[in-house]
Amino acid sequence: MRRRWLLSAYLLCTVAAAQQPTIKPVATIIQLHEAMISPASDAIFNAGQEPPKDEKAWLAVRNNALILAEAGNLLMLGGRAKDQGGWMKMSRAMVDAAATAAKAAEAKNVDAIMAAGDRIVSTCESCHQVYRDKGRRMMR
Ligand code: HEC
Repeated sequence: MRRRWLLSAYLLCTVAAAQQPTIKPVATIIQLHEAMISPASDAIFNAGQEPPKDEKAWLAVRNNALILAEAGNLLMLGGRAKDQGGWMKMSRAMVDAAATAAKAAEAKNVDAIMAAGDRIVSTCESCHQVYRDKGRRMMR
């Protein structure tokens, strides 16, 4: 009796696990760039050139930095990774650089935003060098 109860509990758990929703990638790598990576990184680069003027503008920069950071995570998920080595490392470098930009925006520190922007550009370029255009520099 006890055994049968255990068995059904086990089966229920297995069924529940099988029905757990899983990640469903929707955007291609190009679309992730169009929707998140390009506009979010532009907002950070612009903040270095023309410092945000008020609370709201700084918050917008912070939010863009968060979008960029999470887009870096998305590059690693859902079968988008082109390999488990360099791709993961470079995506993670973008996550880290963007997280630094978010901190800089929270501190409203223009120098730190510029430094984070430089770090971000080098993560874009190092990934493209290997996985996209063999070192052609970005048109910025
Ligand atoms: C982990 C790798 C990786 C990182 C990091 C990365 N990219 Fe890309 N990027 C790619 C790949 C791969 C493509 C080409 C995708 C394709 O052709 O399917 C691409 C394409 C692009 C394109 C061309 C999009 C188009 O519509 O043709 C632009 C612009 C671009 N990236 C900008 C950036 C910027 C700016 C950053 C940094 C903020 C960045 N990328 C970070 C891998 C990366």
